[in-house]
Amino acid sequence: MKIFVDTADLTEIRRATEAGLIDGVTTNPSLLSAVAGDDDPKELLREIAETVNGPVSAEVVAVESGAMLVQGRRLAAIHDHIVVKVPMTEDGLRACRCLRAEGIRVNVTLCFSAPQALLAAKAGATYMSPFVGRLDDIGESGMEIVSQVRQVYDRYGIETEVLAASLRHPRHVIEAMMLGADVATVPPKVLFQLLRHPLTDTGLENFLKDWRKLGRAL
Ligand code: G3P
Repeated sequence: MKIFVDTADLTEIRRATEAGLIDGVTTNPSLLSAVAGDDDPKELLREIAETVNGPVSAEVVAVESGAMLVQGRRLAAIHDHIVVKVPMTEDGLRACRCLRAEGIRVNVTLCFSAPQALLAAKAGATYMSPFVGRLDDIGESGMEIVSQVRQVYDRYGIETEVLAASLRHPRHVIEAMMLGADVATVPPKVLFQLLRHPLTDTGLENFLKDWRKLGRAL
């Protein structure tokens, strides 16, 4: 399973890239808005795409398919790594079809059901993003959608990748792995949490303590 980091924060992206932890990045308008300030968001996306050796999702902010197409082409022209994100709407799927016909990769976002995921795949989506945490927030099971979509895509030989999104904690990542998601995108906090285990910390501490007793250098 590939791991993407879900942020537009370049410092976090650089740290994750240098540590070799990530295969790509996802952003959305909220994440870009949180960090761009006075900077041009397209410039920020270019810097992110140059930093990461993998796909970088960048989302359109139009609701009508023609305008989405214009924005999608503009985003794709920023860098080869850019994947255009469109919302799971009728217009979004129209834009998805056109962008795919032009060879531009598309991530259909804001998916909350298996039928939506099937329609996204039929529109040629490269990635389909089910928002797990937001379904959990309203008392539904986000992972149930991941499970259903995995089965449907496998049954019909669909190549669209399942990109589990809105993951809030390591347990979500474990579940996404077990269910066969192709990608899990996680906020930086969760990404760095994945590295850690209390037994790793105490184990290392004890090894170093024992070695010091020997009083020798390596
Ligand atoms: O990738 C989608 C993600 O950014 C949404 O996460 O936590 O805002 O539901 P969240």
